Amino acid sequence: MKIHNIGSYMVNNYMFETPVGIIGIDTGYPGGFPKFKKRFEKLFPLSELKYLILTHHHDDHSGFLNEIIEATNAKIILHPTAIPLLASGKATSKNYTPPGSGYSSIPASLFGKFKKDFSFPSVVISSDRMIAVDSEEIQPFEDLNLPLKILHLPGHTADHIGLFLKEPGIIFCGDAAMNAVISVARHTIWIDDKAEFGRSWDKMISYNAKKIYPAHGSPFSPSDLIKYRNYLERKKKIE
Ligand SMILES: [Fe+2]
Repeated sequence: MKIHNIGSYMVNNYMFETPVGIIGIDTGYPGGFPKFKKRFEKLFPLSELKYLILTHHHDDHSGFLNEIIEATNAKIILHPTAIPLLASGKATSKNYTPPGSGYSSIPASLFGKFKKDFSFPSVVISSDRMIAVDSEEIQPFEDLNLPLKILHLPGHTADHIGLFLKEPGIIFCGDAAMNAVISVARHTIWIDDKAEFGRSWDKMISYNAKKIYPAHGSPFSPSDLIKYRNYLERKKKIE
């Protein structure tokens, strides 16, 4: 299966060429649609986008979801928890503080203070345009005989999902892990629920993948997940 990354330095945008058309992962920041469209149309007509997996509701993943819904007939695959969050246009993170919720490092906390605004345009998706996957029992791509499995990877947010490409064994983990300049020890900047986040890492480790492709930064070896699995246990909560 051919994979294209049409994203920017800030957010990767993976597109899979499949027999049923193009399957994409996430959008990007609000305002990014013209650039996305240009990059997509260099490869395929926009009408070829048949499915878009939304890893979670955050602004840098859902920023131009409205434009995608309008310009294509793509079905949006998402966790049902994302539905009210998308409609609200706000990240959960500010008011949602289960034990261990917070920034994963000092640089991450500075980024949060600097950026301040994590809102995004409200998105309401009609039921005929979405596939809500509330458990891993629901596997729309396996039903289409494609080697793609949706993984539930909560922790960064409660609505977080990812994708496993069975051959050659790649996990597209969204923000369940991160490999950008600002992240430390492959940890995502913000973590809603530390325990869930750790369990999602355990799940990714159990898949024995060859590579992890995060939404932010370059691909890395799953052995890093083992190496940094207990990084947060040694840290105090960072505000
Ligand atoms: Fe995120």
